[in-house]
Amino acid sequence: MNNMRRIGVLTSGGDAPGMNAAVMAVAQAARRHGVSLIGIKRGYNGTLCRSNNIADDMVELDLDTVLDIADQPGTYLRTARCLDFLKPEMQLRAANNIREMGVEGIVVIGGDGSYKGAQALCRQGIPCIGIPGTIDNDLAYTEMTLGYDTAVNSCVDDIRAIRATSRSHDRPAVVEVMGRHCGDIALKAAAGTGAEICIVPEVSWSIPDVAERLSRLIAGGNLRATVVVAEGAWDSMEPYDWRRVLREHNMLVHDDDPISTRFLTRVLRCLTGCEARTTILGYTQRGRQPSAYDSGFAFEAGVLAVNLLRNGIGNQVIGVKDSRVFFMPIDEALRQKRPFNLNLYNTINDL
Ligand code: ADP
Ligand code: F6P
Repeated sequence: MNNMRRIGVLTSGGDAPGMNAAVMAVAQAARRHGVSLIGIKRGYNGTLCRSNNIADDMVELDLDTVLDIADQPGTYLRTARCLDFLKPEMQLRAANNIREMGVEGIVVIGGDGSYKGAQALCRQGIPCIGIPGTIDNDLAYTEMTLGYDTAVNSCVDDIRAIRATSRSHDRPAVVEVMGRHCGDIALKAAAGTGAEICIVPEVSWSIPDVAERLSRLIAGGNLRATVVVAEGAWDSMEPYDWRRVLREHNMLVHDDDPISTRFLTRVLRCLTGCEARTTILGYTQRGRQPSAYDSGFAFEAGVLAVNLLRNGIGNQVIGVKDSRVFFMPIDEALRQKRPFNLNLYNTINDL
């Protein structure tokens, strides 16, 4: 036991449901063991102490305040992307500021980018523990990231509502969900709603093939099929002159317009003759109250993070395997390659 007297906690990258619950758990565990807790504001920005007022960068966290926000969406500590933190001189400055505040270890709640920041701090001699706070579920070493379950539930709620309206009007729907590099939200949301077509960044796809499948569904009497598209699906799209199709139907498109969900819907309308509509779910997926699963995971992860630091164990990340919370070295976790559930993908798209 190395008996840390003061630790810090920060949230970084995109906000995720459950970040506040994790901060609360860290605060509860810290109070239980007589460790004081510093909340670092706006991701790694807070470690650089660039504000005129130190309270805008680092504040002593009061458990009662944190208890009040535990079930709230968003992150009380605020979050940000701090590009300066990529510079080694800024990482050194951060480590010095952290030491000056008497902070002996940090709990970093964020995604893979934030974990790289944590690795950098570890290299500067500040022990860090990572909690995987991101809705994307794009970290290979853990079955679930914090916020993913809530985001999927949010998509399922919304897609159900969209499907009800699609049914009323006999119109297909094209729904974009988040996931710049990872199709997990799209996959689970499609499976959870019976959506007929799912498009993800991990699997190559083509517009003519999607149009053909949609036409077959329509011909078979399904006039209100749902196409769920992950926002990063364009990376795996086969080349196709979709602008030509739009122009042939007298639709306005510029040569430098990138493909997007709205354009995809328009092209599908041209190719199938259906009245498809677009919905982009966007931030509704991130700003939700955490699900029971995410709140529970946040609690276990937050308590474990404090216990690890108290025991002198740093440079680790927390995850879930076989429904159990575990930890492993950050370097090893970041080296792992994420497996994609191709079986589920094929099941959805083959039906
Ligand atoms: P996420 O953590 O959700 O993946 P980002 O990729 O935007 O989100 O990363 C969040 C922040 O983590 C960045 O703004 C930056 O401050 C820090 N970060 C990302 N990559 C690195 C890196 N290679 N080295 C140091 N810090 C990094
Ligand atoms: O939180 C992850 C994520 O939702 C990605 O799926 C998405 O591409 C990105 O964040 C967008 O975040 P922002 O608009 O905050 O840059």
